[in-house]
Amino acid sequence: MAFESFRDWVQHLDEAGELMRISVPVATELEITAIADLEMKKPGGGKALLFEKPTIQGRISPFPVAVNTLGSWKRMALSMGRDTVDAAAQELGFLMKAKPPATLKQAMKILGTALELRHARPRTVRSGPCKDVIHRYEAPAGRTDAWPDAPDWRKGTDPFPPTLQDIPILKCWPLDGGRFVTLPCVVTQDPDTGDRNVGMYRIQVYDDRSTGLHWQLQKVAARHGRRYYETGQRMPVAIFLGGDPMFPFAATAPLPDGLDEFLLAGYLRKKSIDLVKCETNDLLVPANADFVIEGYVDPTEPLRMEGPFGDHTGYYTLPEPYPVFHVTAVTHRRDAVYPATIVGIPPMEDFYIGAASVKLFLPIFQMNFPEIVDMALPAEGTFHNLVVVSIRKTYPMQAYKIMHGLWGMGQMMFTKYIIVVDADVNVHNLSEVLFHLFADTDPQRDSLITRGPADVLDHATSEIAVGGKMGFDATRKIPGEGFRRPWPPLIRMDDEVRRRMAERFGAAG
Ligand SMILES: Cc1cc2nc3c(=O)[nH]c(=O)nc-3n(C[C@H](O)[C@H](O)[C@H](O)COP(=O)(O)O)c2cc1C
Repeated sequence: MAFESFRDWVQHLDEAGELMRISVPVATELEITAIADLEMKKPGGGKALLFEKPTIQGRISPFPVAVNTLGSWKRMALSMGRDTVDAAAQELGFLMKAKPPATLKQAMKILGTALELRHARPRTVRSGPCKDVIHRYEAPAGRTDAWPDAPDWRKGTDPFPPTLQDIPILKCWPLDGGRFVTLPCVVTQDPDTGDRNVGMYRIQVYDDRSTGLHWQLQKVAARHGRRYYETGQRMPVAIFLGGDPMFPFAATAPLPDGLDEFLLAGYLRKKSIDLVKCETNDLLVPANADFVIEGYVDPTEPLRMEGPFGDHTGYYTLPEPYPVFHVTAVTHRRDAVYPATIVGIPPMEDFYIGAASVKLFLPIFQMNFPEIVDMALPAEGTFHNLVVVSIRKTYPMQAYKIMHGLWGMGQMMFTKYIIVVDADVNVHNLSEVLFHLFADTDPQRDSLITRGPADVLDHATSEIAVGGKMGFDATRKIPGEGFRRPWPPLIRMDDEVRRRMAERFGAAG
């Protein structure tokens, strides 16, 4: 299901009983976070919140703020237009496993799927609602280049120059270094191949026209950026917010470098995305975005300290140097809604975003490792700290193959702890997983410590971005794995007796 704007999406949530409106003024500095944190901690993720009168330093912002719109399984499924996230995952799994048809019926089914895929391809259009209101520097006569770098450009050429002042950007936590855009979709381009990337990297507001760009070392935009730093050319960047909720979802998804996020978003919303060219650079952004912030990074300018920021690790990320982004234009819908999230001690909204990604991409992991049955990133592990994976083990040391394989796959490289369990263990039940970890392992024999790249947000590593990793083989041991005793049976009640007792006393006993 495609949403025409973030307002459209918020309205849909309202109709589904998933939205709480807050009509009294609430400050974008700390107060919105305090309310959103309470809501996100409710069982199942609470409701989405629409702050209708957010205030910026006491002034009511012209734009409402929507928070926690993806923060539950139900809202994730609604955003994908499916009954469940599993249904979307199954469709994607089917696409990837599509085999040559053996019957006409099968052929029609595959054709239907292929047609849906065609919907996924974005197309370029001339304009769109994201340009309802345009604030940009006007080029003086004779100047055609896009960069408003000459100081005289800034002297009164536009009565309403682009500014971040009116956007209700949150200061989330008390020790944060300032206001941060927390759901930005950042568009960059590989200068060599022209490949586009859309990634979610937070933006710290330095002043009305400049921000930080927190693309971490190993992320695709950082790779693009390095090429610009090598050549010294200015790097165009476009940041958009809102539009369809599949945009921020796709921006966070760990897609392989070079695979277009707009293709995934288009596929999930079952409608191709209309893209428009920015006002001050050649990058393309969704025509139905709520806000677009255009600008550039100047590679000749020194990096600037970004942070601290109360992060999804549950701790503040301390200041580190990142590129500076200069704003050249701000365009927005007339009725724009500002989308935001807060991150902090789990569980938070981002758990559902990440967990939905894991469900969607499970078929890709299974294509590489057919023995994988299921996979979970528990909220307590804040994404990269813990992965639990269940496998159908058929040969000795297979759990170790999976550990090494996962540490070598894309952003799985950041995983600190991997626990491998047998196929009959429910990876989504942390209590069950810990029971098997504690009961089915000999720590010395069944663990592995190694080293590799780490999440730059991990404050516990001795150095930034490198660290130790630990794997646990919590599967039943089989011959060849150094275990020389019989493995005892797990206690289970006889099915027939259980059924009879349930019939007699009710399933709840
Ligand atoms: C709410 C949220 C905020 C995020 N903030 C950042 C960030 O500031 N920097 C970063 O490098 N990754 C951040 N991420 C993770 C990236 O969006 C994610 O790794 C994504 O796959 C990166 O895209 P890329 O592979 O195209 O670089 C964030 C994820 C979420 C859900």
